[in-house]
Amino acid sequence: MKVLLALCISVQMYGATSFITKEEYAANLYHNPRGIGCHLCHGEAGEGRRIAQYKEKGEKKIFEGKPINKIPFSQFYHRVNSKITGMPRYYLTDVEIQTLYYYLHREEFRRAASKYSKSK
Ligand code: HEC
Repeated sequence: MKVLLALCISVQMYGATSFITKEEYAANLYHNPRGIGCHLCHGEAGEGRRIAQYKEKGEKKIFEGKPINKIPFSQFYHRVNSKITGMPRYYLTDVEIQTLYYYLHREEFRRAASKYSKSK
């Protein structure tokens, strides 16, 4: 049963990604990850973003989404599905987490990949 389910999911994923490119899928997921888009709190490129500034007992407080485009994959992987104050709890699959990480590092990846292309 589990195997069948996994098979269905992967067939479905393949079906979905065969109509849109990997880039489009990654961008869609970042902006609409079955919940509030990551960009709203972490910025378009994951560079971090100030969400609100307020005063509490006369003290200036800043609520911000941290930069998430420079952390190692292991940290990204473990934190993204954990309980974080100020962040919605997501239940992302491994592939979704990998795709989001790819999205935040796609320029770097492209640069590296183009250096080792056989077509050059
Ligand atoms: C409503 C705002 C909000 C949204 C939407 C949001 N986050 Fe966050 N996220 C936060 C805040 C605030 C923190 C920082 C908490 C802290 O200071 O430890 C955080 C922390 C993180 C961290 C840990 C950073 C670190 O330095 O370890 C990761 C990874 C992360 N978010 C990824 C994501 C991803 C991916 C998405 C979309 C699926 C997302 N977040 C959506 C608010 C948000």
